[in-house]
Amino acid sequence: MTALTYTPIGVFRTPYLTTQAIPKTLGQAPTAEATIEIDPAYADGLLDIDRFSHLIVIFAFHQSTAKPLRVYPPGQTRERGVFATRSPHRPNAIGILTVELKKREGTRLFVKGVDVLDGTPVLDIKPYLAHFDCRPEATLGWVEETRRG
Ligand SMILES: C[S@@+](CC[C@H](N)C(=O)[O-])C[C@H]1O[C@@H](n2cnc3c(N)ncnc32)[C@H](O)[C@@H]1O
Repeated sequence: MTALTYTPIGVFRTPYLTTQAIPKTLGQAPTAEATIEIDPAYADGLLDIDRFSHLIVIFAFHQSTAKPLRVYPPGQTRERGVFATRSPHRPNAIGILTVELKKREGTRLFVKGVDVLDGTPVLDIKPYLAHFDCRPEATLGWVEETRRG
């Protein structure tokens, strides 16, 4: 298949300088605050974004070094297929985050709910739409077992 190339539209500024510093929140959503600095070239694309309380951010795991098809999630003793995990190490090192948009100042978005490194390139942003994106009936798969304790 054809290789695809993307140009980042911005960058995450987060409190995390190393992956070890990021809390592993398998059973719950992350809560850390951060900013997303959008390249001014894309400023026009932010019109009306602050009318949404939550955003979906698509980003590149730019420090990912491997592309295994089987992984051990943090703290787990059972191997899982990479597509059954949120591992940063995957064939296309792309991640997604649903974040709360606290405020916007020009091309800076102040958000809450991140678990990514400072400097993580942002590829795209979309509004979180509850009627599209929220699935209360969704099962947790193998993650359910980790929440039972
Ligand atoms: C399990 S992933 C989940 C990320 C996102 N919530 C998702 O579902 O795509 C989060 C972990 O990826 C790693 N990570 C975060 N930012 C990264 C980056 N820019 N490059 C490589 N690994 C990163 C850290 O170990 C972090 O704890």
